[in-house]
Amino acid sequence: MRNYEDRPITADDLARILEAGRRSPSSRNQQRWDFVVVTDRDQLARLAEVWRGAGHVATSAATVCLVAPLADDEATGRSISFDLGQAAMSMMVAAADLGIGSGHAAVHDQPLARTILAVPDDHEVAFMVAFGYPADRALGPIDEPDRRPYDEVVHPGTW
Ligand SMILES: Cc1cc2nc3c(=O)[nH]c(=O)nc-3n(C[C@H](O)[C@H](O)[C@H](O)COP(=O)(O)O)c2cc1C
Repeated sequence: MRNYEDRPITADDLARILEAGRRSPSSRNQQRWDFVVVTDRDQLARLAEVWRGAGHVATSAATVCLVAPLADDEATGRSISFDLGQAAMSMMVAAADLGIGSGHAAVHDQPLARTILAVPDDHEVAFMVAFGYPADRALGPIDEPDRRPYDEVVHPGTW
């Protein structure tokens, strides 16, 4: 979801969303994540510059930046990414439960993202999730989402 109403998220609702992230499962319960929450309009506008596909961050009510330690090897990087994905999805589901929509944004310009968020050099801003009330449609299940067909994706028993 990339079009947001100009309407803030209450502190309680935002805390509930972040709590869902904090409670997410992770490999060996390592919790290699920190969440930097941005609600300041100017800071959101600057954050939207870290990737050409991050424009929606500028108009979000709040954007959560998922920060993780830099991985020493590929397997660790994969493991951190999986855990971050779960934390992100937990927050997105908690938000949907409150009628709040969300949209991911990648981060390409790491130096810029680190500067805006004051993140240390041994961490990266892995990606962001922009939250807000949908401007263009009511939040709800989509009848025909743009997804591969069920029978193509699901393999009973064997591939
Ligand atoms: C790791 C990840 C990074 C993403 N980065 C972006 C992004 O930078 N900009 C954006 O507009 N959408 C981004 N998305 C959202 C996907 O494009 C979106 O989930 C997918 O196209 C399906 O869209 P739908 O859920 O609206 O059908 C990202 C999604 C994931 C999981």
